[in-house]
Amino acid sequence: MLQKIEQIMQEIADLKATSAEEAENLRIKYLSKKGVLNALMADFRNVAADQKKEVGMKLNELKQAATNKINELKDAAQSQEQAGDDLDLTRTPYPIRLGTRHPLTIVKNEIVDIFSRLGFVLAEGPEVEDDWHVYSSMNFADDHPARDMQDTFFVESHPDIILRSHTSSVQARVMETQKPPIRVICPGRVYRNEAISARAHCFFHQVEGLYIDKNVSFTDLKQVLLLFAQEMFGPDTQIRLRPSYFPFTEPSAEMDISCHLCGGKGCSFCKHTGWVEILGCGMVDPAVLEANGIDSKEYTGYAFGMGIERITNLKYQVKDLRMFSENDKRFLDEFTAAN
Ligand code: DAH
Repeated sequence: MLQKIEQIMQEIADLKATSAEEAENLRIKYLSKKGVLNALMADFRNVAADQKKEVGMKLNELKQAATNKINELKDAAQSQEQAGDDLDLTRTPYPIRLGTRHPLTIVKNEIVDIFSRLGFVLAEGPEVEDDWHVYSSMNFADDHPARDMQDTFFVESHPDIILRSHTSSVQARVMETQKPPIRVICPGRVYRNEAISARAHCFFHQVEGLYIDKNVSFTDLKQVLLLFAQEMFGPDTQIRLRPSYFPFTEPSAEMDISCHLCGGKGCSFCKHTGWVEILGCGMVDPAVLEANGIDSKEYTGYAFGMGIERITNLKYQVKDLRMFSENDKRFLDEFTAAN
């Protein structure tokens, strides 16, 4: 008898129930009138008198243990079922995973930040523009090839309305509402009708800078651009200006920085020249000032424009331009640390 009690005790300890119904079935099996324990109680009569005390105590223990265990199983199963009913599938899962800023946003912010410290203020203009702000006011001749269908997206039925192909249009927007001194930094998206590949896209991003005041000189421009290059790419960065042509600046230049991958020694990235081109710049053409209502005898100015993708590629060696607009989380996650 004692052995049997011991065995059932063990059985009870190992009981499991996945639902309240299962727990109830266990109660019926062990604790009901016709259950296992009552059957044992019935056997109690046959126990020898000298063992009755010990067996009786064990039986009581067993009954207590069975009652406790089955109640426990019932409670657990019930609260689990309730929790199941209340499960809120819309609840935010914790911990909340923060996203990352887009690499172009990171670099744009950095560029704007550097120029803000030099007193430039943010200015923006529309992406859907008119010919005047994008081209005519910027001194593009009527037959300038950049107006060609190949470069510019036109709005059908409104040949005057286009998607801006450079942020220089914001120069005109600013000049029509502000009087010199003007010192603005203008980031934004631009569009060109190009076949999409690793090296070209139909939209990309630029930052335009414009400074107009009395006695602004090319030296000022050079100094500001040197400071920018060193802030962006490190204090050892050197710059070099090469003569160039843009309709809206005279003289015009393109600026290279010493290749920061090889330190100027020459590598495949800089095509073994030690230099990489990063922006266009120049003194604002007096014709542009006049077209935008600013007296070119009183004021001079400089302007510059750079591609954000280009700067980002230099900083992070992104090999394929398409990565920037594919929203591939694996690519974006790589910029967590730069955030
Ligand atoms: N707008 C030019 C482009 O899209 C870039 C540029 C060059 C902007 C010289 C300027 C500048 O302000 O002075 O290629």
